[in-house]
Amino acid sequence: MWPDTTKVVLRQGPEVHIRPMVAADAEALHRFFLALPEEDRLFLEDDVTKPAFVQQLLAEQEAGRAFPVVAEASGEIVGYGVLYRPLFGWSTHVGRVRMAVARSFQRQGLGTAILRELVRKAQGLALDKLVAEVVEDQVGALRAFERLGFHREATLGNHVQDLSGKKRDLVLLANDVAHIWEHMEALVADFEPSAG
Ligand SMILES: CC(C)(COP(=O)(O)OP(=O)(O)OC[C@H]1O[C@@H](n2cnc3c(N)ncnc32)[C@H](O)[C@@H]1OP(=O)(O)O)[C@@H](O)C(=O)NCCC(=O)NCCS
Repeated sequence: MWPDTTKVVLRQGPEVHIRPMVAADAEALHRFFLALPEEDRLFLEDDVTKPAFVQQLLAEQEAGRAFPVVAEASGEIVGYGVLYRPLFGWSTHVGRVRMAVARSFQRQGLGTAILRELVRKAQGLALDKLVAEVVEDQVGALRAFERLGFHREATLGNHVQDLSGKKRDLVLLANDVAHIWEHMEALVADFEPSAG
């Protein structure tokens, strides 16, 4: 079972609730994606501004392949994260994480708090390893994952094409679920005033 809603008080004071996504979040999540600055969504794998992306997310959740969470503050979605896990094949022990946080909520520990929920879910699913895919130019996202204990495992040259058609390298970051958990417990003790 997914744990209950988690309340997090961010560094600059706002209170955020992180919980599993439900179908009724579709519109608000779409609004959240539309409001992301172009440079934050430019390199996300899917065109998250299309309503079809949110519907696809719900369908994958229903099928047990995706575990999306949303972070809410004052009734608005200010962050999202998703854990994907394959149901078949030789990598059923490996999960893939993605997340995004609204600009005005970045650098306050929300990305870390969302990842912690995804790691908790990964533990519940008995996954061993998590990977994140980040385009080389996304320095903030790379630092965020490295700060959370992920290491660069591979770089795929010219693997992604941005909206303007320019090709860029894709960095695969990875970590063992058990290691991330230990690492995050230490980080949370450092900078998260309250979570419960
Ligand atoms: C990646 C992302 C979700 C991080 O969210 P966040 O709420 O800012 O994360 P945190 O506040 O928990 O940051 C954790 C650490 O990451 C590092 N970090 C985060 N953003 C950074 C930036 N822009 N520049 C440098 N370091 C950064 C910092 O070390 C930070 O800790 P600190 O503030 O104590 O120094 C956010 O930057 C984002 O939405 N980016 C756009 C979408 C994206 O690229 N997603 C990744 C693809 S999966």
